[in-house]
Amino acid sequence: MKGTALRVPRAKGEETRRALRSVGVIRDDAEVLHEGDWVAFPLLDGVVVPSQWGEVVERELRPRRARGPSDYRELLHLPPEPTAQLPRSFDVVGDMVLVRLAEELTPYAADIGRALLDFVPGARIVGADHGVHGADRRRSIETIAGAGGWRSRHRENGIELDVDLEKAYFSPRLAREHARVAASVGRGERVYDLCCGVGPFSLAIARHARAASITAVDANPDALVLLRASVARLASRVPVTAREAPVEVFSRTAEPVDRVIFNLPLEGIKYLPSVARTVARAGHLHYYEVAPRRERGRRGDAIVRTLGGPVEWTLEEVRVIHPYSPAADLTAFDVARSPTPAEGR
Ligand SMILES: C[S@@+](CC[C@H](N)C(=O)[O-])C[C@H]1O[C@@H](n2cnc3c(N)ncnc32)[C@H](O)[C@@H]1O
Repeated sequence: MKGTALRVPRAKGEETRRALRSVGVIRDDAEVLHEGDWVAFPLLDGVVVPSQWGEVVERELRPRRARGPSDYRELLHLPPEPTAQLPRSFDVVGDMVLVRLAEELTPYAADIGRALLDFVPGARIVGADHGVHGADRRRSIETIAGAGGWRSRHRENGIELDVDLEKAYFSPRLAREHARVAASVGRGERVYDLCCGVGPFSLAIARHARAASITAVDANPDALVLLRASVARLASRVPVTAREAPVEVFSRTAEPVDRVIFNLPLEGIKYLPSVARTVARAGHLHYYEVAPRRERGRRGDAIVRTLGGPVEWTLEEVRVIHPYSPAADLTAFDVARSPTPAEGR
């Protein structure tokens, strides 16, 4: 179909799109045309736009596909340099979207936020993620589009978690790991979820496994408020107890149990010897660590030594959960404790 379009340099693309939208003259049934360093916005028939906005050209217009864009970046018309820096991925937690932006993208943050708000079905708010900080691993977030704060409910593994991204740690990137650990829990096991955050491991186990009991421990009281709310809604038959305590204090007197999850990936190693005491004979430990990629093989042996040595502990599996930095991965180390005391072997 033939029609008119407003042609502008790509550098002015986003600004022009906003101006055309604000006066309601963009044609929604035709695709925006990308022509090298230029972009052409199809115009409704017969409209007149100020000549300083760009050049009105005749074009063969392509009907816009019925399906939406397959990538949020298709909704943005930024100059080439920032376009090349746009992150491909982002996280969705309930109706909230988190994206990590390079510093050079700061001037375009509001445009990126709006594009994500339009792209992600049901999105309410979009934030620039400045990472987690402090012992409680609270996230620092700058709202770049939408409104309403960072508390919500997130669904994963058939459970609904109460989350508040500014008050307590949560990452949707661990969903498969939460499910995998829950699937490994045997009938009647007693479980500790140390450094539980808002409790995605505990809740997945309570929902999908036949554990005898789960004790979820964290030093951040806000995380436990959220966990208790999720537990109350889940109404599982498995009792879940939320305990506010530093792991190093809890593990001093805790009764050993069949399975321990310990997810404090940056500094957990210093508490590992005391956590080892909380694992019963023939029990299992799921320990998480940010491990340098090239040391992954050796790291498992070092962890076994820190726990108490290879006579007592056996490394069963090492898994990469996700990349953490260019040279390190969040890595899971599954370790089993021997059924008999070392002296008796
Ligand atoms: C990486 S988050 C893990 C959250 C959770 N396990 C998950 O999978 O989403 C680490 C958690 O450890 C808690 N934490 C940090 N230091 C701690 C300590 N010494 N004792 C107990 N909890 C601690 C933080 O509050 C945070 O919730």
